Amino acid sequence: PKTPRNGSHPSSSGGAQHLPQTIIIGVRKGGTRALLEMLSLHPDVAAADNEVHFFDWEEHYRQGLGWYRSQMPFSAPHQLTVEKTPAYFTSPQVPERVYRMNPNIRLLLILRDPAERVLSDYTQVYYNHLQKRKPYPPIQQVLLREGRLNPDYKALNRSLYHLHLQRWLRFFPLPHLHLVDGDRLIRDPFPEIQKVERFLQLSPQINASNFYFNKTKGFYCLRDGGRDRCLHESKGRAHPQVDARLLHRLHEYFHEPNKKFFELVGRTFDWH
Ligand code: A3P
Repeated sequence: PKTPRNGSHPSSSGGAQHLPQTIIIGVRKGGTRALLEMLSLHPDVAAADNEVHFFDWEEHYRQGLGWYRSQMPFSAPHQLTVEKTPAYFTSPQVPERVYRMNPNIRLLLILRDPAERVLSDYTQVYYNHLQKRKPYPPIQQVLLREGRLNPDYKALNRSLYHLHLQRWLRFFPLPHLHLVDGDRLIRDPFPEIQKVERFLQLSPQINASNFYFNKTKGFYCLRDGGRDRCLHESKGRAHPQVDARLLHRLHEYFHEPNKKFFELVGRTFDWH
C-alpha cells in the first residue's frame, strides 16, 4: 500500500489525519472564516473546525507536530487539509516554524482595507468585553493618544501588512503565497474562490450557485447540497461610527505602508 503523506495516522473509518498542506495565516478580521467555509465547499478539502494556534502558542508548539496533526480532521488521501489561525500572520516566530514543518507549503492570506480592518478589530474586542460584561472605551479613545493616532494600539499595527509580510518573505517566495482580496470576497465571493481553487490546483468544483446574497444578513451565504447557511452572527457586524476627520487620518496613516505593501507583492488593492 502507498505510504500516506506526512506519515499520517490511519483511523478505523479508513480516513487519516494529515498535517495541513495549506494554511490560512491571516489576517485577523480579513474574512478568514468566510474563506475557510467557502473553500470547504470543495469535496477535496478537509478543514479543521477551530483555530489551532499551533505555531504561535508555546504550550501547543512544545507538543510537537504529532499534536498538531491530532488537531486535524480525518480525510481521504486525495483531500487537502487546511487550517486557519489568523494570528499566524502577525506573530514573529511563526514563519520560520512553518518553514521548518514544510518549506513547500502553500499559504493563503486574506486581506482587507487596513483602516476598515482596524474598525472590525475594534468591534471584535468591544464585543468580547461586552460578553464578559466588562467596559471597553469608545473607538476615539483607543485610536488617539494626546490628539494623535496611537501607534501602540495593536489593531493599527496589525494592519501594517508590509511589516508582517516581510517576515514571511524571508522564508517563502511570493509564489508560495496567495493573496485573497477580502473586500472582493465580501462583494462577490465566487471569483475570489475560483482563484484559490486554481492556486491550490484543485479541480474547479465550486460553483456560482454555491453562493447567494442574503438580504437580511447583508452578506453572501452558502448553499451546499440544497442546504443554506450563513456565517455566525459575529461575522458581518456593524462597525462604530467614526467622524470623517478621524477616518481621514486613519486613511492617511496607512497610505505609505500600503504603497510599500503593493511594491512588495507587485499588485495593488482598492484600499483608501
Ligand atoms: P466584520 O464582522 O467586521 O464585518 P474573520 O473571519 O477573519 O474574523 O473576518 C470577519 C469578517 O469577514 C467580517 O468582519 C466580515 O466583513 C467578513 N466576511 C466576508 N465574507 C463574509 C460573509 N459571507 N459573511 C459574513 N462575514 C463575511
